[in-house]
Amino acid sequence: MNEKSIIVGLDVGTTKVCTIVGSKTASGELEIIGIGTHPSHGLKKGSVVNIDKTVKSIQCSLEEARLMAGVDITSAAIGIAGSHVYSFNSSGVVAIKGQEITEEDIDRVLEAAKAVVIPSDREILHVIPQEFRVDNTGGIKNPLGMCGVRLEAHVHIVTGTVSLIQNLVKCVEQTGVIAENVILQPIASSESVLSPEEKDLGVVLVDIGGGTTDIAIWKNGSLIHSQIIPVGGNHFTNDLAVALKVPHVEAERIKINHGCVLAEQLNQSAHITVNGISGTPSREVPLGHVADVLGARGEELFNFIKNIISDKDLKNEITGGVVLTGGGALIKGLPELGEYTLEHPTKIGYPKPFGGMTNIMQNPKFSTVLGLLIEASRSNEGVDTPIQQESVDLIGKFSDSLKTVFKEIF
Ligand SMILES: Nc1ncnc2c1ncn2[C@@H]1O[C@H](COP(=O)(O)OP(=O)(O)OP(=O)(O)O)[C@@H](O)[C@H]1O
Ligand SMILES: [Mg+2]
Repeated sequence: MNEKSIIVGLDVGTTKVCTIVGSKTASGELEIIGIGTHPSHGLKKGSVVNIDKTVKSIQCSLEEARLMAGVDITSAAIGIAGSHVYSFNSSGVVAIKGQEITEEDIDRVLEAAKAVVIPSDREILHVIPQEFRVDNTGGIKNPLGMCGVRLEAHVHIVTGTVSLIQNLVKCVEQTGVIAENVILQPIASSESVLSPEEKDLGVVLVDIGGGTTDIAIWKNGSLIHSQIIPVGGNHFTNDLAVALKVPHVEAERIKINHGCVLAEQLNQSAHITVNGISGTPSREVPLGHVADVLGARGEELFNFIKNIISDKDLKNEITGGVVLTGGGALIKGLPELGEYTLEHPTKIGYPKPFGGMTNIMQNPKFSTVLGLLIEASRSNEGVDTPIQQESVDLIGKFSDSLKTVFKEIF
């Protein structure tokens, strides 16, 4: 098989590291040929806190995918999140040099939009064009070849702390794999879950992972806001462990098998048997109590999101509603609670089907890694040069991701 047609997405999450190997068929269709998932040790709230443990988890996940696919993995698109990620909107204006807008004019206006003061410990991850204005005409997605004298660009800029991004890249590269693109996780999840219509109408993508909840708000086909909330599915589990006085593993079992955030959806008189901390006998716990604990955390999370929407004055922009994804979205009753709290239609978003092992991947916890695969496939288009094994510098990677997103917009 030609090396160029092998594409890899690598999601280093707080609870699992997942590798997907895809191959492009002759017709350009992506097909999954290998999957590797391994529990993640070494991350907290989306950021690496233990390099050795993170490298080992990545190695195991890569090895599994490598064996299944029967190909070598030399590079991958990796996702980034964590509460260090901060994004904002910016704009820039330039005078058009010739009669028509050229690629050079577009580059210049994007550079101008990017020219904002950011602290020296931060790095720009993405500069995503939202719209261009040529003279007095706005809402232009691609101004190339248009006539005018003044070109304005509105962009969404995503930044992250350099050292934390470097830690993740270092962990991946210690396994001998080049981190070719560094992509914001909610952008990747949006790619695999949202339809172009939803992005046009206005939609809030909420990826509830283990350690973080990642938000991406889209309108008119463009990303208008992104944010990482340091609360995820593990917080629901921790709350249960504390409230029921049970070990973490037992709390996770209860959450997955019996968890619900709405007591009304349960048989109020039902009880479940829970195993206490070792040495204590098992007990009967009312299901309603479990729902009260999970419901309080769910409400807190949705209120956080509600505040983001109202702070950014986006309530009327979200015609397409709210889409929940990530493993944490699977707690029963979350869409209903979301709809009630956010006052917008809310549903679970499953990754769009691919060729290959589609059934296994039809789970919201794989949204990010599948999105990374799509992004990796896009940036791979038209690349003829063989992949270099040497370490790529961070700035190079960021401009690669910038190119990827720019390509995606046009
Ligand atoms: N069936 C289920 N019901 C309820 N919760 C679930 C279910 N399956 C997984 N989860 C929860 O989903 C969370 C993990 O989700 P996911 O795999 O998307 O996280 P991650 O990508 O590893 O983490 P992060 O994105 O925060 O770095 C865990 O808290 C887990 O308890
Ligand atoms: Mg995740």
